[in-house]
Order: sequence, then C-alpha cells, then structure tokens
Amino acid sequence: MALHKDSYVLLNDGNKMPVIGYGTYAPQKVPKSLAEEGTKVAIDVGYRHIDAAFMYQNEVEVGRAIREKIADGTVKREDLFYTGKLWSNFHTPERVRHGLEKSLEDLQLDYMDLFIIHTPFELKPGDDPFPVDENGKFLYHNTDLRDTWKAMEALKEAGLVKSIGVSNFNKTQLEWILSMPGLKYKPVCNQVECHLYLNQSKLLEFCKSKDIVLVGYSVLGSSRDENWIDQNSPVLLEDPVLNAIAKKHNRTPAQVAMRYQLQRGVVVLAKSFTPARIKQNFQLFDFQLNSEEMETLNGVDKNMRYLDLKPFADHPKYPFADEY
Ligand SMILES: NC(=O)c1ccc[n+]([C@@H]2O[C@H](COP(=O)([O-])OP(=O)(O)OC[C@H]3O[C@@H](n4cnc5c(N)ncnc54)[C@H](OP(=O)(O)O)[C@@H]3O)[C@@H](O)[C@H]2O)c1
Repeated sequence: MALHKDSYVLLNDGNKMPVIGYGTYAPQKVPKSLAEEGTKVAIDVGYRHIDAAFMYQNEVEVGRAIREKIADGTVKREDLFYTGKLWSNFHTPERVRHGLEKSLEDLQLDYMDLFIIHTPFELKPGDDPFPVDENGKFLYHNTDLRDTWKAMEALKEAGLVKSIGVSNFNKTQLEWILSMPGLKYKPVCNQVECHLYLNQSKLLEFCKSKDIVLVGYSVLGSSRDENWIDQNSPVLLEDPVLNAIAKKHNRTPAQVAMRYQLQRGVVVLAKSFTPARIKQNFQLFDFQLNSEEMETLNGVDKNMRYLDLKPFADHPKYPFADEY
C-alpha cells in the first residue's frame, strides 16, 4: 500500500508506530526551549511520533509541548506515539521502574507508548548519568540484559508503557533477549543509526526476519555534536549521488534520504529545530524513488558510523565491534 502521512507499522505486540518520528536530541549547548518549540511545530504539521529520552534532559520541555497541543485541541493523547529511553545507569532490575517514573514525572504523562533500553552497555548505577573515576574513565556495571528485560516486561504489564524495545543492540544482543527462557514480549523495535552511509542492510534483514522494526536515527547525518562525533566525517546531506537524485525529483537531499529509508521499511526519525525544515521533512508522501534509484542509493553505503560511542569501546557489552 502507498505510504501516506498517517502510515504506521504494526508492531509485534499489536500496537502501531507512525512511520516518521520527530527527533528531539540536540547538543548540550542548544537551549532546551528549542525542543519544546520544535515539538509543538512538529505536532502542528502532522508528526504523531515523538522521540526523546531521559539522557537528552529535555523531557520537561517535550512533555510540556505535548500537553499544550493536547490542551489546545490539536491532538488527543491517544493520537500520539511517545518514545522514551531507559538510560544506561538504570539497568539493574530494581532501578528500571524508577528510571521510567523519573521520565514520566518530567513529562507529566501517565504512560509512554514505547520505552526502550537506550544502550546495551551499562554504567554504574547512581545519580550521575555519566559516572567516572578520578582519571575521568567511565565506570561500568554489568547486569545480565535479560534481567533488565524482565523488568521492562513488568512495566508493560503494569500498563505504564504500551510497548517495549531496545536501541543500539547488535544481532547477538537481540538474540540474547529473543532466546531468553520465559520471554513474555519480544522487543518491538531496535532503534539504531541508519542512513545512506550506514544502511544496516544485514541488521535490517535480521530484524525483519524476527518481526522487529528497525527505527533509524541520524538519517540526515546527525547533528554532528562535537562531543560525540568526528568533525572530519563526511557531511551526509552533501553527498553528490543523493543530491543528483534530489535534483531530479525537485526535492531536498533530506527528503530523499528519509524517503529512501521509508521505502526500505525503516521507521525514520528526523530532528530539526527549524520550523521550515520540520515541515519539509514531513512532506515525503507525494513522490517515490524507483528501483533503479533505490539501487543507486544502496551503493552509497560506506559502513560508516557517525555515533561510534568509542569512549565505551572497552565495555564488555559495547555493541559496535561485531559486523552487525
Ligand atoms: N537511540 C539513540 O542512541 C539515538 C542516537 C541519536 C539520535 N537518536 C534520535 O534520533 C533523532 C534524529 O537523529 P539525530 O538528531 O542524530 O540527527 P538527524 O535527524 O540525522 O539530523 C539532525 C540535523 O540535521 C539538520 N537538519 C534537519 N532537517 C534538515 C534539512 N531539511 N536540511 C538540512 N539540514 C537539516 C538539523 O538542523 P536544524 O535543527 O538546525 O534544522 C540537525 O543539525 C534524535 O534527535 C534522537 O531523537 C537516538
């Protein structure tokens, strides 16, 4: 069926996820008020899927925007799909519910549509989201992810979240959960970096074979946050092949980069705090890439990750050392 602005994917637990999500992460120096303004614009122009996280420290603002758009009658709560994330120092089972409740309190919402484990690697439990030792080295912890998952299942059963999933998991880490004795609910999604330079074809195929939705982040090439991303990496939206196809369709490179993922069955997140771009990035339903263009864009892949999370590379659960 043709994609349209209200298209969704059916998750393996029966819930529905809109195919385009509004991303809200911005580098630390950017005022959080822009996430609030952006979320309101996004809802006004038609986005119904909003992606944020405890770690982004923006849930107060994003929650306020959501509640304002409900209060002014633009949307009902049940029209929206909100994704939050369990930060990495909340993996111990007794802290999982606490992690969710902190977010719900910031958001001033009663439930989340989707709650996902933000990263497979765990940091030392405590108040500091980035705990370090006296030499500045991150302090790790190593709870069995299956115990964390059981605590996530309990949140779904308690009605605090509608669906549960994971993020930044590799194939082996997904298999740990899928093969777990007594598994009640499979992850509905794996949210991972996915764009023209890292098209994740193998992980996408694996996820599809297990009825897990691949949700792509940094589809536009990321915000190039200097704290996390190599500033010498190529700028995705300047790619010549992408630009040539965009020109042919009289579209922007961002629209083609997003449409490419939608046609592959990837749910797409895109962040912008610029109202005109927020609107433009949602206008993806009145053009289509043909199979030759899709093939050409497949050929742009470089297996290149913007967010390689290298500071955690020596963690036993660092996800990006495996092929996929
Ligand atoms: N699970 C995870 O670990 C994880 C990791 C990263 C991201 N995410 C989620 O995924 C979302 C999206 O990923 P991302 O934030 O890394 O980056 P992204 O969406 O790939 O790119 C955002 C950047 O692209 C710019 N941009 C947006 N639309 C544009 C357009 N039409 N033309 C030119 N530039 C445009 C934005 O600038 P302006 O804002 O100035 O317009 C911003 O600098 C995040 O916000 C977050 O919600 C999750």
